[in-house]
Amino acid sequence: MRGVAALNAPLIGTPDSRAMLETPALVLDAAAFEANTAQLAALSGAHGMGLRPHAKTHKCATIAKRQLALGANGIACAKPGELLALFEAGIRPLMLTAPIASARKIARLADAAARGAELTVVVDRVDLVEAFASAARAAGARIDVLIDCDTGLGRTGVVTADEAVALARAVAAEDSLRYVGVQAYAGLVQHVHAHVDRRAANDAANARLRAILDGLEAAGLAASIVSGGGTGSHLLDFEAGLLTEVQAGSYIFMDEGYQPVDFHGTETAVFATALFVDVTVVAHSAAGEAITDAGSKSLAIDGPPPRVFRDGVEIGRIEWAGDEFGRVKTAAGHEAPAPGTRLACTVPHCDPTANLHDFIHIVRDGRLVEIWAIEGRGLSD
Ligand SMILES: Cc1ncc(COP(=O)(O)O)c(C=O)c1O
Repeated sequence: MRGVAALNAPLIGTPDSRAMLETPALVLDAAAFEANTAQLAALSGAHGMGLRPHAKTHKCATIAKRQLALGANGIACAKPGELLALFEAGIRPLMLTAPIASARKIARLADAAARGAELTVVVDRVDLVEAFASAARAAGARIDVLIDCDTGLGRTGVVTADEAVALARAVAAEDSLRYVGVQAYAGLVQHVHAHVDRRAANDAANARLRAILDGLEAAGLAASIVSGGGTGSHLLDFEAGLLTEVQAGSYIFMDEGYQPVDFHGTETAVFATALFVDVTVVAHSAAGEAITDAGSKSLAIDGPPPRVFRDGVEIGRIEWAGDEFGRVKTAAGHEAPAPGTRLACTVPHCDPTANLHDFIHIVRDGRLVEIWAIEGRGLSD
């Protein structure tokens, strides 16, 4: 261990040790995390739908193991770097959910497949089919392949059923590949706040997906795996029943970006906030505001500003004050906390925040109980 995790490790097991953590420290509330993971595993099971949690959120083998222990179909990854880090840490089956364009990365993935990664990849171009096929052949591996479909995000994937059929045929013609279905991640849907609007957005994406699935079926290439969806759409995906598995990621942690999303249409929360960055007040500004030791190198700021808690009481929000500093904007009735005070901050966006930390501190009832490595941290390549 290094950094604050090395200083904090001796505190493991000490009562009230969260209040003594050296900071900035990425902190996971164990009870909230366990409730979130159990909740989605149970919900997907009750709807007869699989779960392939996305590790782009956490990049952590210990978390992936817990998700697999709760019955996940496998673990999804956004980049070869994070996938290979989790593979080396013993995680499998693994799915790469984005197309790539590098022969050397493809060779690495094929090598992992030959060493037992139980690998699934996505393709949206015929040259990518050929590249995976020849790399798998050379490595003596077989790789499962999904056709990546664009149902409105406008990022990667084929748009029409004809394109999907042509690619699925190309995959099925390769001995070293196995055509298993499609991926359709409706990214535009996930953070739509109002339930009625999110439902309309998901319905529109599903109409595009249905046309592709029908086309594949008519061509004798029915998809056995239909992977997609996320934290924002999971309830709608269960209801629609078009996917075979949901790739939710953020549900384990939650963040300020998801805070305004009305999951049920009843404004009741589905998942609890489990991820925090604990910080320390290091100064008071000339204006008397508390300045903390965590800026954009500790908290990804592509989301609404963090809420800040002192001893469990919300006292305001944190404003970005530089790479290494935050500014506490206290709500009415709260004084600026004194230098040395520990504060807990929610995170604007969980995935890129976890990617900024080597370790995650696990706390239960105010006590540090474990520290887990984030093996894929920084490996966004
Ligand atoms: C392909 C893919 N699947 C699933 C997810 C998970 O989404 P969420 O974190 O909103 O659950 C993402 C997130 O960006 C993604 O890119």
